[in-house]
Amino acid sequence: MPPQQQQQQQSALGFVLFILMLWVIFPDSENAAQSLIVSDLAAERLKRCWSALDVLNQTRWGDFAPPVPRDDGDDNDYDDEDGDSGSWLNLTGFRREDGFEWNDLERFREKGLQLSRYAIPPVQGQQLWGTGARLPLWANASGTVHGEWVKTPGPVHRGYDSYNLSNSVPEMHWIGDKVDWARNITGGSGKMYVLLEGNSTVTEYEQLPDEHAPLAGGSIRNVKATLQIEDSKGSHLNWEMRLWGAHWPREGVILLTTTSEKFEGIFGLPHLTPSADYFQSSQMLLNQTLAHTIVTKQENRYMDQNAPWSSEIESPSYTTHPYPHCEFVMYAQVQPPSPQDLGITDPEPQGDAVANLIGAMESELQTPQGAPVGRIPGLQMSAVVYSPDCGFFLETKGPPDYPPGEARHLSGLKKEVHLHQVKTWLLVFALVVFLQVFLLKSQLAESYTPSTMARVSFTTASIMVIVDGMTFTAAATWVSSAASTFLPTLVLMFAAFLSMTIGGSFLAKIHEVQMPETRDRRDRNRQGNTGANDATTNTQPHAAELEQQGDTGSLLPAPVTAARPGPPSGPIIIPSDQDIDAEIADAAAAVPLQGGAQQRPAQTAAQTFQSIVGRYILLSLGISFLVISSTTWYPNVRSGFLNLCAFVYLSLWVPQIYRNTMRNCRRALRWQFVVGQSVLRILPLAYFWVKEDNFLYAIPERRAFLLICAWLWLQIVVLAAQDIVGPRFGVPARWTPEAWDYHPVLREDNLEAGGLPIGLVAEDQPGLRSSTDGDSHHHHHHERKRSAGGGHSTTRAIDCAICRELLEVPVVKAGEDATASVTGAFARRMYMVTPCRHIFHTACLEAWMRFRLQCPICREELPPL
Ligand SMILES: *[C@@H]1O[C@H](CO)[C@@H](O)[C@H](O)[C@H]1NC(C)=O
Ligand SMILES: *[C@@H]1O[C@H](CO)[C@@H](O)[C@H](O)[C@H]1NC(C)=O
Ligand SMILES: *[C@@H]1O[C@H](CO)[C@@H](O)[C@H](O)[C@H]1NC(C)=O
Ligand SMILES: *[C@@H]1O[C@H](CO)[C@@H](O)[C@H](O)[C@H]1NC(C)=O
Ligand SMILES: *[C@@H]1O[C@H](CO)[C@@H](O)[C@H](O)[C@H]1NC(C)=O
Ligand SMILES: *[C@@H]1O[C@H](CO)[C@@H](O)[C@H](O)[C@H]1NC(C)=O
Ligand SMILES: [Zn+2]
Ligand SMILES: [Zn+2]
Repeated sequence: MPPQQQQQQQSALGFVLFILMLWVIFPDSENAAQSLIVSDLAAERLKRCWSALDVLNQTRWGDFAPPVPRDDGDDNDYDDEDGDSGSWLNLTGFRREDGFEWNDLERFREKGLQLSRYAIPPVQGQQLWGTGARLPLWANASGTVHGEWVKTPGPVHRGYDSYNLSNSVPEMHWIGDKVDWARNITGGSGKMYVLLEGNSTVTEYEQLPDEHAPLAGGSIRNVKATLQIEDSKGSHLNWEMRLWGAHWPREGVILLTTTSEKFEGIFGLPHLTPSADYFQSSQMLLNQTLAHTIVTKQENRYMDQNAPWSSEIESPSYTTHPYPHCEFVMYAQVQPPSPQDLGITDPEPQGDAVANLIGAMESELQTPQGAPVGRIPGLQMSAVVYSPDCGFFLETKGPPDYPPGEARHLSGLKKEVHLHQVKTWLLVFALVVFLQVFLLKSQLAESYTPSTMARVSFTTASIMVIVDGMTFTAAATWVSSAASTFLPTLVLMFAAFLSMTIGGSFLAKIHEVQMPETRDRRDRNRQGNTGANDATTNTQPHAAELEQQGDTGSLLPAPVTAARPGPPSGPIIIPSDQDIDAEIADAAAAVPLQGGAQQRPAQTAAQTFQSIVGRYILLSLGISFLVISSTTWYPNVRSGFLNLCAFVYLSLWVPQIYRNTMRNCRRALRWQFVVGQSVLRILPLAYFWVKEDNFLYAIPERRAFLLICAWLWLQIVVLAAQDIVGPRFGVPARWTPEAWDYHPVLREDNLEAGGLPIGLVAEDQPGLRSSTDGDSHHHHHHERKRSAGGGHSTTRAIDCAICRELLEVPVVKAGEDATASVTGAFARRMYMVTPCRHIFHTACLEAWMRFRLQCPICREELPPL
């Protein structure tokens, strides 16, 4: 690399790092500058929270009664009539002047009750839900569920122009309140994901008498949920939000709401419940827990200025620059597990049997003691989401409106089962990575010499190391917040670390071996620019030099990377008996020799490898950044991007195929390595691309996965073909640089050109033999010429100089046509002919060439395989 270019690259690298650092530091410093104002704002907000809590404390059931729209008249003029203006709360969003679409509250309650009554089938004609009786339900609804939703628009159109935010929330400076609000669901249907986390303690309370039905069963806990709504048909966006609320475990009812500057949802939540019993219990619970939260916030107001119960998942900037979004209220009913799922065959299980079984399962999940509870069925819920300001309903798809075969509301796993699954798969992944390390180790044991190392494609090895490095980084990042998945993540991190470091050292060695190659190519290019008019004149002196050194035997065995002697200074001897073409090919293939004079100190090599590593780290940072930000992209774009990433990743054998072809090398890596790595690296992908209920709830894409599999298979087939029929089979000769063909077709009529290897030349051509066989004193070969019974080729025999066993080679007779058949290719695989026209067993010479790139007989340099 020219120093100038290198400097430019380094300064570019530095610039990118600088930007990254700025990006990391900047938001913090901004926060620090504003924290005084922000803490004032936070104090202001907490004051408002206290007065809202006061309202919650002092109101009674029925205090919030927005007018019910009449079916006959115009919906909009209900409040102009006397006596029907309803009653309102002094809470933001619940006031009349806020203009929310509360007329549909009754409809929302009705839909919720419908869901609940349908979920619990009546026993002997008697409705069980809402009576406070013991129901066969999960008591802890913590878990993850997902399913489809359908949108029902409200009767009145609501747009951003229906509200005057500077009127209803004068304290805030709103941004973007005059465009379509965020979280505005515009599509007709889509998917939603709910992550529910319940408080582990249940608060008991005294239930109201029967006339206040439906009853809530006497216990309540607070829950929070992360709701993700995929609006793939409308705005093509994913909206993610946090909701807070209460869960009545006995009846399986969950009521959640968003809270923001323009909607004090959590304080008004009890007024949205189905009945007085629910109201009283939630008012009591919220009175305690909300006060507790506000007090804590007040104590920490200089550290933590985030709004309490904020519906934003993570956005500190929201505190200072709020933008309006649609508010949501969610009513969910936990469904009883079906008797089949519980493994109960009795069609009419008696009394509390089912409830007892479920209780046993839950306590086993809570504190595993090995009780025989069988398989834990999944968590099922039905839900209705109501947006009081944007005016629409989202209902989960399922019975009774849709047949159970089509959709079953929200289904998923309880938290403990989900965690168990995550842990298991993390361990399986770690095992896969360990097996990768094992394969890598055995490959390292195989290619530990420079000549074998030179065959391995640097890019192929890089792809593996980059992905392992990203796995390691992901695991290391996750491990700090992994909680109960800590140990499996640690194991995965360790495995990925091993894979990354061993792969990295392999990469470093490959780089060390192959670096002279690229430099020489550059040098050659530079030479080519100055005087490439005749390639023969460039290479000939060099070939002569080789010949000279080979004759005197002065060239000591040395690794390819070692420094070479400078250009020849002695007389140039062009041997008359050499095949000039073969010499040129030899010189072209033996490139490591050529640039020897410009050898740089080893230090430069280390620096370049470091800069490569630096570039790889930046690359993986960039990819990780894209992958993380892709969660907010349009689903189609995201899945296309992820498929593309997988495709590029699993094209990892392509560089190896290219390198094999360019260097005319049949096989660089062990078969176990190629097949094993392919399988192991596609397995984690298979989990997400094929398995329906994977723990990330990623949508499977089987077609893309099949394509990727086929592509990987094709690469392996090409690698196999390169091994069997030759690396340049079917590749036009002019696409590839010339390289020495170690398995040439041996033709008798090539004799004049000196084509047949030494020792195979028949005795009846003494002139030729004596001139070529200059160094025959090295080996005592005795030729036996045998005719192969009138075929178009004869077989001749010679002793292999390495193992001293007989080597039989087919020789095409003069004038015969040597078709390049596959069987011929197989036969030619048995022997190897060196540029110095010595012939050996393939196995013998390959084993030799692992250690020396020198002819065992005449010590001439051999082009690498
Ligand atoms: C309202 O607050 C007072 C004082 O904190 C408390 O005694 C009372 O029980 C609360 N009322 C309700 C309905 O929770
Ligand atoms: C509503 O509450 C605010 C304080 O949050 C208070 O200033 C206002 O007077 C109250 N309005 C009514 C009608 O009670
Ligand atoms: C929500 O989207 C609909 C359809 O695009 C639009 O008519 C309505 O005004 C939007 N509502 C808000 C509050 O932005
Ligand atoms: C919104 O409310 C503010 C304050 O009450 C008022 O000045 C403004 O005119 C209102 N804007 C509209 C469009 O009604
Ligand atoms: C869980 O519930 C208890 C009792 O109701 C309450 O004191 C505690 O703050 C709650 N924890 C959380 C995280 O909400
Ligand atoms: C599950 O519910 C039981 C009783 O309702 C409670 O004791 C336990 O702590 C809960 N566990 C979790 C993780 O919420
Ligand atoms: Zn041999
Ligand atoms: Zn030789």
